[in-house]
Amino acid sequence: MIGIGCDHGGVELKNVLRDHLKDLGYEVVDHGVFDKQSVDYPDIAKDVCPHVVSGEYEFAVLVCGTGIGISIAANKIDGVRCALVNNEYSAAKTKEHNNANVLAFGGRTTGPDLAISIIDSYINAEFQGGRHQNRIDKIHELEK
Ligand code: RB5
Repeated sequence: MIGIGCDHGGVELKNVLRDHLKDLGYEVVDHGVFDKQSVDYPDIAKDVCPHVVSGEYEFAVLVCGTGIGISIAANKIDGVRCALVNNEYSAAKTKEHNNANVLAFGGRTTGPDLAISIIDSYINAEFQGGRHQNRIDKIHELEK
């Protein structure tokens, strides 16, 4: 299961990515928002991310205007490794090296076709473990 959520700056891209993930066969939980009424992106991160940390969601996708604010907010939550992804290479590497469990996109900065290509790169990559797990362990040590 995958969770997806956005603020008012990311509604269209959220819908595109949600539908793409469904087309790939994933069960997707859409946390909204569903219109362009102004909301606060930390509230969306707070709503979606605990389901990733608990293991209920395999990963989550968050979208705000730039992807910056919502990724900063998500990374304040213990257990979250959120990557703001703007290209396919970074998306693959953040799975291989960081085992990112949340992806953030900018609805005003990344077009739909590129965003789909980026999320596919993440999905098709595999975490490499080993020294990378050691580094991830050190990231989570910083939460204490
Ligand atoms: C909302 O206008 C905008 O600030 C937000 O979507 C995001 O870009 C913040 O980082």
